[in-house]
Amino acid sequence: MKFYIACDHAGFDIKDSVIKILEDFGNEVVNLGTNSKERVDYPDFAHKLSEAVLKDKGSQGVLICGTGIGMSLSANKHKGIRAALCHDAYTATMARAHNDANVLCFGERVVGLGVVSSIVQAWCDTSFEGGRHANRVQKIEL
Ligand code: RB5
Repeated sequence: MKFYIACDHAGFDIKDSVIKILEDFGNEVVNLGTNSKERVDYPDFAHKLSEAVLKDKGSQGVLICGTGIGMSLSANKHKGIRAALCHDAYTATMARAHNDANVLCFGERVVGLGVVSSIVQAWCDTSFEGGRHANRVQKIEL
């Protein structure tokens, strides 16, 4: 799987570890910034990543901010992006299996590296189940 990853200043400290986790699971990762602790606006990075994922069919994204909330709100403004704010392996599994989510969001100030690792593993290990969920996912778009 090819992943784009982006964060704001509040997600910067954990981003390199997340890139390594994704690569260790055999994924290709493209880093879209930010690349320092200097304050930035999370929507700028959520929009940049969402556009990249939509252009690159079949790719997925990871967005990190302080809570994951601002990133998920911003990414979900893009038609075709289904960004899921995940707090644990269960929500990550369900986001993929039932919602066909294509952008994983979480908050560096909410989850530690151990939980993040289990979130990413669950996300990578889970495919969309389709079936009764496919119609529901289609209905998300207005
Ligand atoms: C930055 O302080 C913080 O507001 C941002 O990272 C994010 O948590 C917003 O949803």
